[in-house]
Amino acid sequence: MLLNEHLKNPLFGKVAAAAAGLNVPVYVVGGYVRDIFLDRPSKDIDFVVVGDGVEVASRFASALRGHHKVNIFRNFGTAMVNCDDFQLEFVGARRESYRPESRKPEIEHGTLEDDQNRRDFTINALAISLNKDDYGTLIDPFGGLSDLENKLIRTPLEPDITFSDDPLRMMRAIRFATQLGFTILPETMNSISSNCERIRIVSGERISEELNKIILADKPSVGFRLLDEAGLLGIIFPQFMALKGAETKDGKGHKDNFYHTLEVLDRIAPNTNDLWLRWAALLHDIGKPATRRFSAETGWTFHGHEVKGSRMVPQIFRQLRLPLNEKMKYVQKLVFLHLRPIVLSEEEVTDSAIRRLLFEAGDDIDDLMTLCEADITSKNPEKVRLFLRNFKLVRIKLRETEEKDRLRNWQPPVSGEMIMKVFGLPPGREVGILKTAIREAILDGKLENNFDQAYRFMLDEGARMGLNAVNEQV
Ligand code: CTP
Repeated sequence: MLLNEHLKNPLFGKVAAAAAGLNVPVYVVGGYVRDIFLDRPSKDIDFVVVGDGVEVASRFASALRGHHKVNIFRNFGTAMVNCDDFQLEFVGARRESYRPESRKPEIEHGTLEDDQNRRDFTINALAISLNKDDYGTLIDPFGGLSDLENKLIRTPLEPDITFSDDPLRMMRAIRFATQLGFTILPETMNSISSNCERIRIVSGERISEELNKIILADKPSVGFRLLDEAGLLGIIFPQFMALKGAETKDGKGHKDNFYHTLEVLDRIAPNTNDLWLRWAALLHDIGKPATRRFSAETGWTFHGHEVKGSRMVPQIFRQLRLPLNEKMKYVQKLVFLHLRPIVLSEEEVTDSAIRRLLFEAGDDIDDLMTLCEADITSKNPEKVRLFLRNFKLVRIKLRETEEKDRLRNWQPPVSGEMIMKVFGLPPGREVGILKTAIREAILDGKLENNFDQAYRFMLDEGARMGLNAVNEQV
């Protein structure tokens, strides 16, 4: 098969010329070739050189107009060049597998076939020649093209060999199956199950990179079910496995929170591509196993699971090497608040409850509503209809209240400094009490959110506390 029409970008000709000048064969390989057939334009192009990849990269870069930096990773025998929008990676063909954790400095050079043998899946082992004799020819020794057509994930070698070369590939198999809607060959899947313990030697960063890609897929539950089936999920994310199970006692049952959570994740997927909002969906009920109680009168309860859950987030983020920054705080906040709109929509929607929710959620209020709508997984269509209708009402009220009271990014209308000045107070407890009283009065709707009303209220409250206004400001 000839693929010249996919090599129209002049950079392919330039790479070919650089390699020809050094008298070494070069091929486009891996994900870029796969994505041509999947019609997914990609900006990352990998080249494999039967010889020194770094030399080809340097020659290619110096032939380009303008200055192009070559980033060389001697230990891996690879070099990267950024050209236009593209990121090009050059690697020498090797007999050994790609092993990012390996500290082994020397690389055994090999043929193109050796190199293809050592790649993860048949669909990722396709190559296109850039050499004079067969320019544009697809080189597909393992039937990768037919696996692409049949939507199959299969290893080029015995799966046990491919996975022991780099155990992260077990996660990659599941990630590709989830992203592309492919099936993992039973033999390959069996090998993942029997090798699952080996995932422990892979770094947390690489694992969570794959996990994040699964979470960002159109239907993330596919990946989580496969991770579970393979035995990987319990190793990399035991807290999530603890959600599994639906116990019945005295004829009273509760839903299986594992499958419920996966449903919520799938339901939120069409409404957001934000990784962290999807993480919030994944973790919203994570505190349930720890708070589960049974009593004959009330049946199963999970009181405080939103509090417990939000407290569990930092530990989970640390364990999965996710960032311990404002993204984590955002996830914590959504987990903490995830019941609030539901409670609101079940009761009469009071203005003060709406104001409090706006105040606490701030700019994340829309994301919180998106999460809560996805959380409605009841099988009773009447219930679902009711909830969604009430949510619409809550959203309208939120908009109206925000327009009126502007509480999203609330700043106290009277500052602490002003309170100190007016009453001649040093920093301390009384200033805090006054500030809180003003805030509470605004949230309860006793005051409008403006300086004049807040100032007058402060004077009255101060007087009630026995404070003298020694330095009036207005
Ligand atoms: N590869 C491999 N084993 C790994 C990682 C990568 O064999 N553990 C090979 C595959 O041939 C892969 C290529 O290196 O196609 C490039 O890897 P990478 O850029 O990580 O992934 P892509 O396949 O390009 O896919 P994506 O961009 O979706 O991550």
